Amino acid sequence: MKYIGRDGKEGIINRFARHVSSGKAETLKTFGLDFVFGHREGAYVWDATSDKRLINCHCNGGVFNLGHHNPKIIAALMDSLKELDIGNHHFISEQRAILAEKLAQLTPGDMTYTVFGVSGGEAIDLAIKLARGYTKKLKIISAVGGYHGHTGLALAAGDEQYRQPFGPNPPGFVQVPFGNISALRQAIDDDTAAVIYETIPATFGMPIPPADFFPQVKSLCVDNRILLIIDEVQTGLGRTGKLWGIEHYDLVPDIMVIGKGLSGGIYPMSATCFGKELESFFHENPFIHISTFGGAEVGCPVALAVLEESSRPEFLGHVRELAEIFAHGFKELKAKHPTILVGLRQLGLMMGIEMVNDQCGPIMTKACYGHGILSIYANNDRRVSQLLPPLNIDRKLAYEIIERVDGALKDTKEFLSL
Ligand SMILES: Cc1ncc(COP(=O)(O)O)c(C=O)c1O
Repeated sequence: MKYIGRDGKEGIINRFARHVSSGKAETLKTFGLDFVFGHREGAYVWDATSDKRLINCHCNGGVFNLGHHNPKIIAALMDSLKELDIGNHHFISEQRAILAEKLAQLTPGDMTYTVFGVSGGEAIDLAIKLARGYTKKLKIISAVGGYHGHTGLALAAGDEQYRQPFGPNPPGFVQVPFGNISALRQAIDDDTAAVIYETIPATFGMPIPPADFFPQVKSLCVDNRILLIIDEVQTGLGRTGKLWGIEHYDLVPDIMVIGKGLSGGIYPMSATCFGKELESFFHENPFIHISTFGGAEVGCPVALAVLEESSRPEFLGHVRELAEIFAHGFKELKAKHPTILVGLRQLGLMMGIEMVNDQCGPIMTKACYGHGILSIYANNDRRVSQLLPPLNIDRKLAYEIIERVDGALKDTKEFLSL
């Protein structure tokens, strides 16, 4: 291998500590999680300098929905490299237009327009800019415990712990408890531009909203002429068993944000999608928002291949089939580990293992690692371990993951004397 494992474990860690992040290196070493991503294939990642192998049930929150080095995605990139490069973001782009047209066909309702970005945070920033620019109002209401990224306006819509060291929040951002309609109603005033929610707040431990929550949010937005921004960065692209998580709630947002999995795990790509009426905001100055690398042309066929694969009915059917295996498996695990396991929060393969207290998540991360599973706790609700396997694993691997999680629950339970 040309790139992987050239310097041995200590060499890699020391260089990383010297030049990337001394704090991360120290923390991960202390917790015995000094795994260095080496060879990767399908659902598996191997340590760069040992034979340690993990089943990737973190998938960077959906980046690896289609597994590592998915052959269809690699083929799309290899092909596009023969003709394309970044392109120029000021000019008319055939590749961006083709990808945006595909998104228009696949997104709910009449979201015919897309502005591309590189990261989820950047795409959320644009969603908020657009909401404010179009409505000429300031207030943005988001969920306590929600997470939309670490960039400017996305950060401002997130929790205080991530923004506190950086000075006062820009004006106009308000958070209300997720799932609480009366709190939302009270927060709305004449200066409210938009409400922004993840369909299922991942960093908040995947609380699954009841069926009537989003329809109520939508009607509040309609009644008060407020825009609804839905963050599908984690729930999009088949994760929940439908192409978009919000489809489970049978409504059309005004703005939808897609990221992570759109990259195919290979080429960064995010998207802010919206309808014709909102696009009119850009008529006065079409260059008011630009991104040099957003929608880079070489990445467009990659994202197109992701969309083609993720929207296949057989693919989505497979996700739902796997979801049933996990639902059944966790019912058994709950009966087996009642002192630690509260249950599985689940919509399709958007899964959070809910445990009894907030020591459980971090210990479970380590225990899963010991059992060959990469699964990371939810930072805004540490009772929960996120379980996000690739969407195209086979049934056998799903059973194996449940078996390994069984072992990890047993170890966590013993460690915490539960
Ligand atoms: C729901 C959600 N929105 C937005 C983001 C931000 O994405 P990025 O890290 O690509 O900026 C994330 C990242 O984890 C996320 O989970």
